[in-house]
Amino acid sequence: MADFDLDRRQLMGVLALGAVAGAVGLPEVAFAQGRGSGPSSSAIQAALDNAYGKYRGLNEGKNADYIPALAEVPSNFFGIAIVTGDGTVYQAGDSKQEFSIQSVSKPITAALVMQESGSKLIEDSVGVDATGQVFNSITAVEQYRGKEMNPLVNPGAIATVGNVKGTPDEVWNKIIGIHSDMAGRQLQVNQPVYQSEAATNQRNRAIGALMSAYERFPSDPAVAVDLYTRQCSINVNAVDLATMAATLAFGGRNPVTKKQVLDPSIVPGVLAIMATAGMYDDSGKWAFHTGGVPAKSGVGGGILAVVPGKFGIGTFAPPLDDAGNSVRGQKAIIDIVNELKANPYAQFG
Ligand code: DON
Repeated sequence: MADFDLDRRQLMGVLALGAVAGAVGLPEVAFAQGRGSGPSSSAIQAALDNAYGKYRGLNEGKNADYIPALAEVPSNFFGIAIVTGDGTVYQAGDSKQEFSIQSVSKPITAALVMQESGSKLIEDSVGVDATGQVFNSITAVEQYRGKEMNPLVNPGAIATVGNVKGTPDEVWNKIIGIHSDMAGRQLQVNQPVYQSEAATNQRNRAIGALMSAYERFPSDPAVAVDLYTRQCSINVNAVDLATMAATLAFGGRNPVTKKQVLDPSIVPGVLAIMATAGMYDDSGKWAFHTGGVPAKSGVGGGILAVVPGKFGIGTFAPPLDDAGNSVRGQKAIIDIVNELKANPYAQFG
């Protein structure tokens, strides 16, 4: 008998593996979460403070340095924020410290294209499947001629920008506009980071040219890569990421400004792509520890995580692991999700 006993934590991991690998269906309980009342204010602040206190001294990982300006950001910055459905903002540490959004921008621009041209355009052009490859893999492009990937890896993200309609100025205004609406304030580009990446992004230019050759987007590839680079350089803080996450958690309505930023019908698709590919080739590991909480990381050290119907989390800590995900940010979110019982596979009634 004891041989067949699974304890709660083991069972959550088995369910997470099944969801990512398709071995079993998502349990009904995964969809039951979200509409009920969320955790209390004191429980949220305590979870946040606990995670901050536990990991603030952790020294693992290393700043990204392939974009030279990112190597210069102090590694000890650590901020966490949570935004709930009533617009309350909970914070700890360097939650107002600005940094470049990097890849956390990718689901936002994917949402823009899905809203403007329909979700099918994303599904048909770059795909909605995890690649299992690093985020700037050329092998992943070559495998299916730029299809069968997703908007959260560099090739798919560049093609996504290249699918926004309009002149370069119009495209840029739409991109900065939707990011600002999701954050609830006017965002700006971090010029030193933009210049630094623009001077060293030969690989992305090659990826853009390749995706254009495979006709994955209609615009000039050099323009698409430049707009993508600017998008990645938008300055945000952890509170901005938590507000963006909360906007996704509540059907596209920013709970702080009350503005309906996204059409609710596209939100489930955006979250599904984040759940399967938001943490790159470590998305399975992430699902194992969080129950597949939709999230997106960036090499600037930011992570945005969404607990649908309950709250959004934003973190900032520059040192990354080998997959390109913030070490302290991941640990903090995993602890918060589990402490606040937000793992959808841990809802046993
Ligand atoms: O294109 C790049 O390489 C960066 N601007 C963004 C990459 C990134 O953030 C990957 N994230 N983990």
